[in-house]
Amino acid sequence: MIEAILGPGDLPTLKITNAAATATVCLMGAHVLTYQPAGQEEMLFLSSKSEYSQTGAPIRGGVPICWPWFGPAESSGIPGAKGGHGFARQCMWTVETTHEESENSSTVVLALTDDEDTRAIWPYAFKLTMEVTVGDALTMKLTTTNTGTTAFSYAQALHTYFAVGEIEKTTVKGFDGLAFKNKVAGSEAPNPQPGDVTFTEETDRIYFHAAGESVIVDPVKKREIHITKENSDTGVVWNPWIVKAQRMADFADDEYHNMVCVECCNVDYDAPTLQPGEAHTMTAVHQIKQA
Ligand code: BG6
Repeated sequence: MIEAILGPGDLPTLKITNAAATATVCLMGAHVLTYQPAGQEEMLFLSSKSEYSQTGAPIRGGVPICWPWFGPAESSGIPGAKGGHGFARQCMWTVETTHEESENSSTVVLALTDDEDTRAIWPYAFKLTMEVTVGDALTMKLTTTNTGTTAFSYAQALHTYFAVGEIEKTTVKGFDGLAFKNKVAGSEAPNPQPGDVTFTEETDRIYFHAAGESVIVDPVKKREIHITKENSDTGVVWNPWIVKAQRMADFADDEYHNMVCVECCNVDYDAPTLQPGEAHTMTAVHQIKQA
């Protein structure tokens, strides 16, 4: 079943229920808020302090869409641009299609196109679609089409917040030996990742040539979350840890214990350029497996 409901903050939301899983997708930002496979715990983290606003701060948790830039507005290269991680997560998207393929799989497609407001921030014509398939995995396909007459470059991320039992006991596999930019240390020189990623302090890293599978190993929840993707060569791992958590108004001080972001991206050298008429799709698949 696919129902239109009022979600948190009375924001328009789709509730998707089938035999394999339930999920909610908010039209504000085409934001996946929850995904819970049948008989299992929720996969995503959503902050108890998140705002749910039509005009204010973006939603803290779930799967924010970062587009058409990643990081602070200055990184967009657009004079006067405002807002971290682009504007797509603060726009109201429309429902393009909904489809129930089988009793175990349902798909919704949300769309966003440029208008006067987006062109005032970022002067290009585009169509964005977010296809969310809810089944025994959560599959998301973010497609950007250049509908204008000028080429553009953009960066993007599916900035998934995963729920974990205890961050100190969580490891992330799949980045061993990969070069990364350490955003906490401010180091531009890529360092190779030594083994699995573990968490003892604020962690904010962009991994390069990270097209392969990564796995969140959670011994407390006794589960693994497998993350696979297509057309994404960069990945981000983020946990704000103690001090940054305290600085974030929309995040409780102790919530850093129970989340980790592992993000499927096209950032840095991996940022796509689209000629007029061209399209690009990045796909991310998240699946829980019992450990
Ligand atoms: C991560 C970035 O992707 O998102 C971090 O690497 C940033 O640097 C984090 O702090 C959260 O960003 P925001 O804009 O949602 O607070």
